[in-house]
Amino acid sequence: QKPLRDLAKAKDIYIGVAIGNGNLGDAKYTEIMKREFNFITPENSMKWEAIEPKPAEFHFAQGDEIVAVAKAQKAEVRGHTLTWHSQLAPWVNSATWTKENLTAAIERHIRATVGYYSDDLTHWDVVNEVHEDDGTPRQSIFYKTFGNVADYVELSFREARKHTTKAKLYINDYNLEGQNVSKSDATYQLVKKLKNKGVPIHGVGLQAHLLVGQVPTNMQATIEKFASLGVDVALTELDIRMEQPFTAEKLAQQGNDYEAVFRACLAVKRCVGITLWGITDKYSWIPGVFPTEGSALVWDENYAAKPAYDGIVRAL
Ligand code: XIL
Repeated sequence: QKPLRDLAKAKDIYIGVAIGNGNLGDAKYTEIMKREFNFITPENSMKWEAIEPKPAEFHFAQGDEIVAVAKAQKAEVRGHTLTWHSQLAPWVNSATWTKENLTAAIERHIRATVGYYSDDLTHWDVVNEVHEDDGTPRQSIFYKTFGNVADYVELSFREARKHTTKAKLYINDYNLEGQNVSKSDATYQLVKKLKNKGVPIHGVGLQAHLLVGQVPTNMQATIEKFASLGVDVALTELDIRMEQPFTAEKLAQQGNDYEAVFRACLAVKRCVGITLWGITDKYSWIPGVFPTEGSALVWDENYAAKPAYDGIVRAL
């Protein structure tokens, strides 16, 4: 069996994985990472709280470790993520801001971070999760201070563009995969508006945290719709979770679901790649956030490849 990275390359997409710094001491984990993937996203170590936990105090060591690991296996790196309400440094969340001084804080964070990694990174999730599921603005400190979504999003993209010549700049969110839902539409309208204004936005990231048996049937159409705006599309955080306990039947369905998701991306020229949100169910974020669910990834807790692996191979 050829590694996924070879199969993906032959189909002109990348295959990525989210990597937790804390797991790099696990030999089985790094073996799969090196063998199967040509693209890496740091699962947590380039988030605001990790990079700039105190004003103007920057910590790049863990991000550096991800960049070094990626270089060693000739993988690209996706920066994740700059302007986001979650895992934001507490000092940003708790301060009383004016538009002017929050603008300065965002610009400093982006200047330092994008500037530091510069052309080592090929993609950046510049803004993450700016809408609620019903398509209304997320009530973040950014939104509350600026009074709208477009302004802080625009300034984030413009600042990022100044400090990298190479990285494709993305807006990223979950629950965008089904078309005509309010959130997907809000994102579409926002990207359209930014493009019309000449804001340097290059891609839309569909996180794709999905549920077994419920992959949106119109996912390909959704990808096409975003691509029609003249941007790339990537599936940035794919996992497909299920109620526990898992059964052979659910795992088989999951294999078909992974296959369907890969096929949806492969069918659209501007769908540039797919990132899995982890390697093994052992370290997946799902049970911590959705306590009755799990088994969302492609390798099980003992590193055995699941039917999901065969599903991906069928698609590729
Ligand atoms: C998750 C990580 O996987 C966890 O380790 C962490 O505790 C919380 O964040 N959307 C995103 C990711 O953009 O950054 C999140 O990652 C999952 C949801």
